[in-house]
Amino acid sequence: MKTKLLQGIAAATLALTAGTAQAEEVIGYDLNGEIPVVVETAAPDHLDGALNTIRSGWTFRDESTKTMQMDDFDNPGMLAVEEAEAAWSTAEGSEGKSCADCHGAAEDMAGVKPVYPKYVEAAGEVRTLQMQMNDCRENRMGADPWKYDASAAVAMEALLSSVSRGLPMNVAIDGDAAETWEEGKELYYTRTGQLQLSCANCHEDNYDNLIRADHLSQGHTNGFPVYRLKNTKLNGVHSRFKGCVRDTRAHTYSPGSPEFVALELYVASRSNGLSVEGPSVRN
Ligand code: HEC
Ligand code: HEC
Repeated sequence: MKTKLLQGIAAATLALTAGTAQAEEVIGYDLNGEIPVVVETAAPDHLDGALNTIRSGWTFRDESTKTMQMDDFDNPGMLAVEEAEAAWSTAEGSEGKSCADCHGAAEDMAGVKPVYPKYVEAAGEVRTLQMQMNDCRENRMGADPWKYDASAAVAMEALLSSVSRGLPMNVAIDGDAAETWEEGKELYYTRTGQLQLSCANCHEDNYDNLIRADHLSQGHTNGFPVYRLKNTKLNGVHSRFKGCVRDTRAHTYSPGSPEFVALELYVASRSNGLSVEGPSVRN
């Protein structure tokens, strides 16, 4: 119910924006023929002209890959979402509780994914969705935490993302999140490895170009978790970062490390305004 309502709001907001001032055309597709997904929009102000327009990784893929993501029946990532739905209502740990016991239907979590990573007051730190899930597992369920980016964790993240599809990414970068965001930005622009390349060298300066027959995107995270046709499974954001850093032949950080949490916050903020797409389909 709540998802339908939120989706309705998202659709209405889109219609409104489309109708006002510049009568801008909405660039995107209708997920399952009904939920508007925005894949190209004006860059957030903090990018300060580094990019004028932000484009989802979806726009860089070929037609068949794009099509797979447009309908849940064709999206291989939805299989993991189904598994996570079962896990959502299965009791685990010493407290004998399931996620559903406290959170209700997974659909009731619509609106959570777009604001992560976020500063969590009670924890005094910026946290990713996976950190929050593990906090519940350890401290509220008495269950073992999931290994960062392990398949069960990524599948649960995909479930939480799937119920927010169509909603705009909207992570906060000010207030208590500002310091972590600055750290992430610093990492994004630092050249590393034998190749002395920064994230920006590829995803800001060279998007749309080909790199080893791969069409370079702007490197956004709104599509995560991502089902990659290359490894035929869902992939977490930090594992993707790790692959990218390794490609520069640099020593890389581990999934779940403070560095990657900060980098995720910064990279997510670059996609503020694009719709949540996860689980998306990429090469
Ligand atoms: C015993 C009750 C309980 C259980 C079981 C539980 N949670 Fe939570 N969860 C909470 C509470 C309380 C919070 C913090 C308050 C809030 O944000 O709703 C929270 C917060 C969260 C958040 C952050 C929400 C936000 O708006 O920022 C996520 C994500 C989450 N839980 C996921 C899960 C998942 C996934 C499971 C199952 C693996 C789970 N939780 C199990 C009680 C629970
Ligand atoms: C040598 C070039 C290169 C560098 C440097 C690089 N990447 Fe990538 N990245 C790629 C390629 C190639 C892909 C796969 C095609 C695409 O989506 O751009 C990719 C994909 C991604 C994606 C997935 C996008 C999607 O829509 O699925 C993210 C996120 C990403 N990179 C982030 C980063 C971050 C953060 C850094 C810096 C730590 C970085 N990349 C550094 C080449 C690079």
